[in-house]
Amino acid sequence: MRVLIGNSASQVAKIAAENVLAGLTAHGSGNTPVLGLATGSSPLGLYRELAQAVREGKADFSAARGFALDEYIGIRATHPQSYRQTLISEVCNVIGLPEHFLFTPQGLGETIEEIEAAAANYDQAIAAAGGIQVQILGIGANGHLGFNEPGSALRSRTRIKRLAAKTRQDNARFFEGLERVPTHCVTQGLGTILEAGRLVLVATGAGKAEAIAAAVEGPLSASCPGSVLQLHPDAVVVLDEAAATGLKLRDYYDDAAAGLSNMQLHLD
Ligand code: GLP
Repeated sequence: MRVLIGNSASQVAKIAAENVLAGLTAHGSGNTPVLGLATGSSPLGLYRELAQAVREGKADFSAARGFALDEYIGIRATHPQSYRQTLISEVCNVIGLPEHFLFTPQGLGETIEEIEAAAANYDQAIAAAGGIQVQILGIGANGHLGFNEPGSALRSRTRIKRLAAKTRQDNARFFEGLERVPTHCVTQGLGTILEAGRLVLVATGAGKAEAIAAAVEGPLSASCPGSVLQLHPDAVVVLDEAAATGLKLRDYYDDAAAGLSNMQLHLD
Protein backbone atom coordinates (compact mmCIF):
# COMPACT_ATOMS: atom_id res chain seq x y z
CA MET A 1 0.00 0.00 0.00
CA ARG A 2 1.22 3.51 -0.75
CA VAL A 3 0.18 6.31 1.60
CA LEU A 4 0.59 9.78 0.12
CA ILE A 5 -0.09 12.88 2.20
CA GLY A 6 -0.82 16.26 0.64
CA ASN A 7 -0.63 19.55 2.48
CA SER A 8 -3.70 21.14 0.91
CA ALA A 9 -7.00 20.07 -0.59
CA SER A 10 -5.75 20.93 -4.07
CA GLN A 11 -2.56 18.90 -3.59
CA VAL A 12 -4.60 15.91 -2.38
CA ALA A 13 -6.79 16.18 -5.48
CA LYS A 14 -3.78 16.44 -7.79
CA ILE A 15 -1.96 13.48 -6.24
CA ALA A 16 -5.11 11.37 -6.40
CA ALA A 17 -5.77 12.27 -10.04
CA GLU A 18 -2.17 11.47 -11.04
CA ASN A 19 -2.54 8.07 -9.43
CA VAL A 20 -5.85 7.40 -11.14
CA LEU A 21 -4.44 8.26 -14.56
CA ALA A 22 -1.26 6.25 -13.96
CA GLY A 23 -3.44 3.34 -12.76
CA LEU A 24 -5.48 3.45 -15.97
CA THR A 25 -2.26 3.24 -17.96
CA ALA A 26 -0.89 0.42 -15.83
CA HIS A 27 -4.07 -1.65 -15.71
CA GLY A 28 -5.85 -0.59 -18.89
CA SER A 29 -5.94 -2.44 -22.14
CA GLY A 30 -6.92 -0.58 -25.27
CA ASN A 31 -8.73 2.73 -25.36
CA THR A 32 -11.59 2.04 -23.00
CA PRO A 33 -10.85 3.17 -19.46
CA VAL A 34 -13.00 1.34 -16.89
CA LEU A 35 -13.39 3.37 -13.72
CA GLY A 36 -15.06 2.52 -10.44
CA LEU A 37 -16.77 5.63 -9.12
CA ALA A 38 -17.44 6.76 -5.56
CA THR A 39 -19.91 9.38 -4.41
CA GLY A 40 -19.22 11.61 -1.41
CA SER A 41 -17.35 14.84 -0.88
CA SER A 42 -13.88 13.24 -0.66
CA PRO A 43 -13.27 12.56 -4.38
CA LEU A 44 -14.84 15.79 -5.74
CA GLY A 45 -11.48 17.56 -6.11
CA LEU A 46 -10.08 14.46 -7.80
CA TYR A 47 -12.91 14.53 -10.37
CA ARG A 48 -12.18 18.22 -11.03
CA GLU A 49 -8.51 17.35 -11.63
CA LEU A 50 -9.51 14.61 -14.06
CA ALA A 51 -11.63 17.20 -15.90
CA GLN A 52 -8.56 19.44 -16.08
CA ALA A 53 -6.56 16.53 -17.54
CA VAL A 54 -9.28 16.12 -20.18
CA ARG A 55 -9.08 19.84 -21.06
CA GLU A 56 -5.30 19.53 -21.39
CA GLY A 57 -5.65 16.54 -23.70
CA LYS A 58 -4.04 14.16 -21.19
CA ALA A 59 -7.17 12.05 -20.64
CA ASP A 60 -10.38 11.22 -22.47
CA PHE A 61 -13.40 9.60 -20.87
CA SER A 62 -15.77 9.89 -23.83
CA ALA A 63 -15.56 6.12 -24.42
CA ALA A 64 -14.93 5.15 -20.79
CA ARG A 65 -17.15 2.95 -18.65
CA GLY A 66 -18.02 3.98 -15.11
CA PHE A 67 -19.29 1.57 -12.47
CA ALA A 68 -20.77 3.06 -9.31
CA LEU A 69 -19.83 1.55 -5.99
CA ASP A 70 -23.32 1.60 -4.58
CA GLU A 71 -26.94 2.77 -4.79
CA TYR A 72 -29.77 3.28 -2.34
CA ILE A 73 -32.73 0.93 -2.35
CA GLY A 74 -36.22 2.37 -2.63
CA ILE A 75 -35.64 5.61 -4.46
CA ARG A 76 -36.01 6.10 -8.20
CA ALA A 77 -32.86 6.36 -10.33
CA THR A 78 -34.12 9.86 -11.22
CA HIS A 79 -34.40 10.93 -7.55
CA PRO A 80 -31.99 13.84 -7.01
CA GLN A 81 -30.31 11.98 -4.12
CA SER A 82 -29.93 8.69 -5.96
CA TYR A 83 -26.29 7.90 -6.49
CA ARG A 84 -27.01 7.65 -10.21
CA GLN A 85 -28.08 11.30 -10.33
CA THR A 86 -25.25 12.31 -8.00
CA LEU A 87 -22.66 10.65 -10.25
CA ILE A 88 -24.21 12.15 -13.39
CA SER A 89 -23.89 15.66 -12.00
CA GLU A 90 -20.63 15.26 -10.04
CA VAL A 91 -18.71 12.95 -12.38
CA CYS A 92 -20.25 12.39 -15.84
CA ASN A 93 -20.92 16.07 -16.46
CA VAL A 94 -17.51 17.01 -15.04
CA ILE A 95 -15.14 14.56 -16.75
CA GLY A 96 -17.16 13.96 -19.92
CA LEU A 97 -18.19 10.37 -19.24
CA PRO A 98 -21.38 9.74 -21.26
CA GLU A 99 -24.40 8.95 -19.07
CA HIS A 100 -25.14 5.81 -21.08
CA PHE A 101 -21.71 4.48 -20.09
CA LEU A 102 -22.45 4.97 -16.38
CA PHE A 103 -23.60 1.79 -14.66
CA THR A 104 -25.21 1.87 -11.22
CA PRO A 105 -26.58 -0.98 -9.12
CA GLN A 106 -30.35 -1.41 -9.42
CA GLY A 107 -31.96 -0.06 -6.27
CA LEU A 108 -35.58 -0.36 -7.29
CA GLY A 109 -37.58 -3.51 -7.86
CA GLU A 110 -40.91 -5.18 -7.24
CA THR A 111 -39.34 -7.85 -5.05
CA ILE A 112 -36.23 -8.40 -2.98
CA GLU A 113 -35.34 -11.32 -5.26
CA GLU A 114 -35.39 -9.03 -8.28
CA ILE A 115 -32.93 -6.65 -6.63
CA GLU A 116 -30.74 -9.57 -5.50
CA ALA A 117 -30.63 -10.96 -9.03
CA ALA A 118 -29.77 -7.55 -10.46
CA ALA A 119 -26.95 -7.24 -7.90
CA ALA A 120 -25.43 -10.52 -9.07
CA ASN A 121 -25.75 -9.31 -12.67
CA TYR A 122 -23.86 -6.15 -11.74
CA ASP A 123 -20.75 -8.16 -10.88
CA GLN A 124 -21.12 -9.93 -14.23
CA ALA A 125 -21.41 -6.60 -16.04
CA ILE A 126 -18.15 -5.45 -14.43
CA ALA A 127 -16.46 -8.66 -15.55
CA ALA A 128 -17.94 -8.32 -19.07
CA ALA A 129 -16.40 -4.83 -19.30
CA GLY A 130 -13.01 -6.42 -18.61
CA GLY A 131 -12.96 -5.53 -14.92
CA ILE A 132 -12.52 -2.19 -13.21
CA GLN A 133 -9.07 -0.78 -13.94
CA VAL A 134 -9.06 1.87 -11.22
CA GLN A 135 -11.55 1.99 -8.37
CA ILE A 136 -11.94 5.40 -6.71
CA LEU A 137 -12.91 5.18 -3.04
CA GLY A 138 -13.81 7.33 -0.07
CA ILE A 139 -14.17 5.93 3.43
CA GLY A 140 -16.97 6.34 5.94
CA ALA A 141 -16.22 7.66 9.43
CA ASN A 142 -17.04 4.12 10.61
CA GLY A 143 -14.57 2.59 8.14
CA HIS A 144 -17.11 1.59 5.49
CA LEU A 145 -16.11 1.23 1.85
CA GLY A 146 -18.93 1.83 -0.59
CA PHE A 147 -21.74 0.79 1.73
CA ASN A 148 -19.92 -2.23 3.15
CA GLU A 149 -20.67 -1.45 6.76
CA PRO A 150 -18.61 -2.84 9.66
CA GLY A 151 -19.25 -6.58 9.84
CA SER A 152 -19.27 -7.02 6.06
CA ALA A 153 -17.68 -10.20 4.77
CA LEU A 154 -14.20 -9.53 3.46
CA ARG A 155 -14.89 -11.50 0.26
CA SER A 156 -18.46 -10.27 -0.26
CA ARG A 157 -19.94 -9.67 -3.72
CA THR A 158 -22.36 -6.97 -4.87
CA ARG A 159 -25.46 -7.43 -2.73
CA ILE A 160 -28.11 -5.82 -0.55
CA LYS A 161 -26.88 -4.31 2.72
CA ARG A 162 -28.59 -2.67 5.65
CA LEU A 163 -27.22 0.84 6.25
CA ALA A 164 -25.65 1.48 9.66
CA ALA A 165 -27.43 3.98 11.89
CA LYS A 166 -24.31 6.17 11.78
CA THR A 167 -24.31 6.19 7.97
CA ARG A 168 -28.00 7.12 7.84
CA GLN A 169 -27.36 9.99 10.28
CA ASP A 170 -24.33 11.15 8.28
CA ASN A 171 -26.37 11.15 5.07
CA ALA A 172 -29.60 12.60 6.56
CA ARG A 173 -28.46 16.09 5.51
CA PHE A 174 -29.19 15.12 1.91
CA PHE A 175 -32.77 14.06 2.64
CA GLU A 176 -35.77 15.74 4.26
CA GLY A 177 -35.34 14.14 7.66
CA LEU A 178 -33.80 10.92 8.94
CA GLU A 179 -36.97 8.91 8.30
CA ARG A 180 -36.65 9.62 4.57
CA VAL A 181 -33.10 8.23 4.37
CA PRO A 182 -33.17 4.78 2.76
CA THR A 183 -32.62 1.88 5.17
CA HIS A 184 -30.93 -0.42 2.64
CA CYS A 185 -28.66 -0.22 -0.36
CA VAL A 186 -26.97 -2.33 -2.99
CA THR A 187 -23.19 -2.09 -2.79
CA GLN A 188 -20.25 -3.64 -4.57
CA GLY A 189 -18.87 -6.22 -2.16
CA LEU A 190 -15.44 -6.01 -0.61
CA GLY A 191 -14.42 -8.97 -2.77
CA THR A 192 -15.71 -7.12 -5.84
CA ILE A 193 -13.75 -3.99 -4.91
CA LEU A 194 -10.58 -6.04 -4.39
CA GLU A 195 -10.73 -7.25 -8.01
CA ALA A 196 -10.06 -3.76 -9.41
CA GLY A 197 -6.59 -3.26 -10.88
CA ARG A 198 -5.79 -0.32 -8.59
CA LEU A 199 -7.61 1.22 -5.65
CA VAL A 200 -7.28 4.95 -5.03
CA LEU A 201 -8.82 6.02 -1.72
CA VAL A 202 -9.15 9.69 -0.81
CA ALA A 203 -9.82 10.88 2.73
CA THR A 204 -9.65 14.36 4.19
CA GLY A 205 -10.44 15.95 7.53
CA ALA A 206 -10.04 14.97 11.16
CA GLY A 207 -13.34 13.09 11.09
CA LYS A 208 -11.66 10.39 8.99
CA ALA A 209 -8.44 10.06 11.04
CA GLU A 210 -9.65 7.17 13.18
CA ALA A 211 -11.07 5.22 10.24
CA ILE A 212 -7.87 5.77 8.25
CA ALA A 213 -5.64 4.62 11.12
CA ALA A 214 -7.74 1.46 11.47
CA ALA A 215 -7.88 0.82 7.71
CA VAL A 216 -4.18 1.41 7.01
CA GLU A 217 -2.49 0.19 10.20
CA GLY A 218 -5.11 -1.74 12.13
CA PRO A 219 -5.72 -5.48 11.92
CA LEU A 220 -7.41 -6.88 8.82
CA SER A 221 -10.93 -7.11 10.15
CA ALA A 222 -14.55 -6.97 9.08
CA SER A 223 -14.92 -4.45 11.91
CA CYS A 224 -13.12 -1.99 9.65
CA PRO A 225 -14.07 -2.79 6.03
CA GLY A 226 -11.44 -0.29 4.83
CA SER A 227 -8.74 -2.63 6.16
CA VAL A 228 -9.22 -4.82 3.04
CA LEU A 229 -6.94 -2.35 1.30
CA GLN A 230 -4.13 -4.20 3.04
CA LEU A 231 -4.92 -7.24 0.87
CA HIS A 232 -4.68 -5.34 -2.42
CA PRO A 233 -1.40 -5.36 -4.38
CA ASP A 234 -1.90 -1.85 -5.81
CA ALA A 235 -3.71 0.31 -3.27
CA VAL A 236 -2.98 4.04 -3.00
CA VAL A 237 -4.29 6.07 -0.05
CA VAL A 238 -4.26 9.86 -0.50
CA LEU A 239 -4.77 11.94 2.65
CA ASP A 240 -4.58 15.46 3.94
CA GLU A 241 -2.70 16.20 7.15
CA ALA A 242 -5.85 16.03 9.29
CA ALA A 243 -6.86 12.59 8.05
CA ALA A 244 -3.29 11.34 8.58
CA THR A 245 -2.98 12.31 12.25
CA GLY A 246 -3.63 8.80 13.61
CA LEU A 247 -0.90 7.10 11.54
CA LYS A 248 2.09 5.71 13.45
CA LEU A 249 4.27 4.99 10.40
CA ARG A 250 4.05 8.51 9.00
CA ASP A 251 7.85 8.92 8.66
CA TYR A 252 8.08 5.77 6.59
CA TYR A 253 5.24 6.88 4.28
CA ASP A 254 6.98 10.20 3.70
CA ASP A 255 10.28 8.45 2.88
CA ALA A 256 8.56 5.97 0.59
CA ALA A 257 6.48 8.63 -1.22
CA ALA A 258 9.35 9.26 -3.62
CA GLY A 259 8.75 5.78 -4.99
CA LEU A 260 11.67 4.20 -6.79
CA SER A 261 13.08 7.51 -8.00
CA ASN A 262 15.72 7.87 -5.27
CA MET A 263 16.80 4.23 -5.16
CA GLN A 264 20.56 3.74 -4.93
CA LEU A 265 21.28 0.89 -7.30
CA HIS A 266 25.06 0.69 -6.74
CA LEU A 267 26.35 1.30 -3.24
CA ASP A 268 29.83 -0.16 -3.58
C1 GLP B 1 -21.12 7.36 1.45
C2 GLP B 1 -20.67 6.51 0.27
C3 GLP B 1 -19.22 6.11 0.39
C4 GLP B 1 -18.38 7.32 0.75
C5 GLP B 1 -18.84 7.87 2.08
C6 GLP B 1 -17.99 9.02 2.58
O1 GLP B 1 -21.53 6.62 2.53
N1 GLP B 1 -21.46 5.33 0.11
O2 GLP B 1 -18.78 5.55 -0.83
O3 GLP B 1 -17.02 6.96 0.81
O4 GLP B 1 -20.17 8.30 1.90
O5 GLP B 1 -18.46 10.25 2.10
P1 GLP B 1 -17.67 11.58 2.21
O6 GLP B 1 -16.55 11.50 1.22
O7 GLP B 1 -18.65 12.65 1.83
O8 GLP B 1 -17.19 11.70 3.60
